[in-house]
Amino acid sequence: MGKFEVLDHPLIQHKLTLIRDKNCSTKEFREIVNEISTLMAYEVSRDMPLQDVEVETPMGKTIKKQISGKKVAIVPILRAGLGMVDGMAELLPVARIGHIGMYRDEETLKPTEYFVKLPSDISERQIFVVDPMLATGGSAIMAVDALKKRGARDIKFCCLVAAPEGVEALRETHPDIDIYTAALDEKLNDDGYIVPGLGDAGDRLFGTK
Ligand code: URA
Repeated sequence: MGKFEVLDHPLIQHKLTLIRDKNCSTKEFREIVNEISTLMAYEVSRDMPLQDVEVETPMGKTIKKQISGKKVAIVPILRAGLGMVDGMAELLPVARIGHIGMYRDEETLKPTEYFVKLPSDISERQIFVVDPMLATGGSAIMAVDALKKRGARDIKFCCLVAAPEGVEALRETHPDIDIYTAALDEKLNDDGYIVPGLGDAGDRLFGTK
């Protein structure tokens, strides 16, 4: 079974509280999501493989650690996932960026795939799928389906707020992937929104309604 971790670093918790506030402006919301994503990248890359390399300091040669060759991809689920890309890429600058387009049918709440563009060597990469909200789990499950169908094997899912229902659904369908979230909230409401949550992450990031 993959990991499930709530990233409870005080800076992450503090910043998440700021963006939950309904009075947080679009500008602040976007900036803080960026910052949280950078902090999350630090946490979720803890188990990246290292290798020994020789380095020559001014005092002489020594063998020290460096991140080994495994390549990385950040894959946002459109559109809200885009808000987490730059912050993550700040710490993972060589990452390639894939995109998976899903929209949620407002009536059935079912996710529908409309766009998938990934690096051609996706099967060799460590993949960080990013989407701020893990609500029903529908889009996350479909995004992981889409990745696995194209050969992806090493997948971590990163979100800001998760609902228990979404975590359970994602873990049941894809038990092999790791899930990281900044918060595990109470529940979903009848409209499929996370409570207390932070509202519609896409609308708050992009100033739409
Ligand atoms: N998507 C969002 O943006 N917010 C929620 O609360 C649930 C799904």
